[in-house]
Amino acid sequence: MSQSNPPQLDRELALELVRATEVAALAAGRWMGRNEKESGDGAAVDAMRKALGGVAMDGVVVIGEGEKDEAPMLFNGEQVGTGSEPEVDIAVDPVEGTRLLAEGRHGATSLIAAAPRGTMFNPGPMVYMMKYVVGPEAAGVVDIDAPVRENLHRVAKALGKAPNDLTVVMLDRPRHAEMMAEVRSVGARLRLIMDGDSPAGLLAAMPEYPYDVLLGIGGTPEGVATACAVRALRGGIIGRLWARNDNEAARARDMGYDVDEPLDIDRLVSSQNTFFVITGITSGDLCEGVTYGPNGATTESIVMRGRSGTVRWIRARHRPTKLEDYGATPHT
Ligand code: FBP
Repeated sequence: MSQSNPPQLDRELALELVRATEVAALAAGRWMGRNEKESGDGAAVDAMRKALGGVAMDGVVVIGEGEKDEAPMLFNGEQVGTGSEPEVDIAVDPVEGTRLLAEGRHGATSLIAAAPRGTMFNPGPMVYMMKYVVGPEAAGVVDIDAPVRENLHRVAKALGKAPNDLTVVMLDRPRHAEMMAEVRSVGARLRLIMDGDSPAGLLAAMPEYPYDVLLGIGGTPEGVATACAVRALRGGIIGRLWARNDNEAARARDMGYDVDEPLDIDRLVSSQNTFFVITGITSGDLCEGVTYGPNGATTESIVMRGRSGTVRWIRARHRPTKLEDYGATPHT
């Protein structure tokens, strides 16, 4: 299938994919607060992979857990699904916020994005990108080359707000010190989060939540997955690769990446026909976390489809047998 003629994805795919984030969340939720990052992530990866195996698609993991040698499962390039049509690119983050989960904090989620084959940006070795995410009214107003101050003024104007009525959400990182100062100089309110800039981007893109802009340097994989959601939300995302040092920048150039190129939504995912599903593991601003009880477990998910722009919230109760199917039974 050529990139210029990508397949039309069936809307059922969204409901198939959400099963995979649900079981990943059910498996990972058992590890909340146990201070074992790898165990929680591993449980989610195993459960998600098993569930993806039954999804009717010919998927290739473009954004996965890393290279094959480091990640035995859901590695970049891995084939997932039954192998039948449609051909899709897949981005997975079985646990977005591994530290949040391990430390028993708010906001760990499990997510998957899908788009027609060949339409997702492949970040290769580039770990970080600068990103802005905004809602529909401010889509297209951010200029990645303009100072943060100016962009915040533009977003405020688009939203019909005073700059000091804006709420910016940002990962709490030392590398953001200057950006934080700029946000404060505008008078905007700043919400600092420990991890999880993908769900934070969704919150910024959805007018019903109290954040206006996600701003800062976070994971490139998270940026590509978020772009698939932003398509459905009709919001805006723009970014640029961010090299940690000159060596990384030189390596990226050698591999054909342009570290100065603005990465707009069309570059991050060139199709409008995206899917994005996310399930809460620990409760956060976006989704409730998993609960377990004698009659089963509950999950809350959000399912989005780029083509129609439909956003669905799905609360599910899972019977205990289903949990066992995915290895999500209580461990001792
Ligand atoms: P993980 O769950 O993979 O650890 O990612 C958490 C996260 O906070 C992402 O949401 C974010 O994009 C990235 O890490 C930021 O990277 P770093 O923690 O290195 O600043």
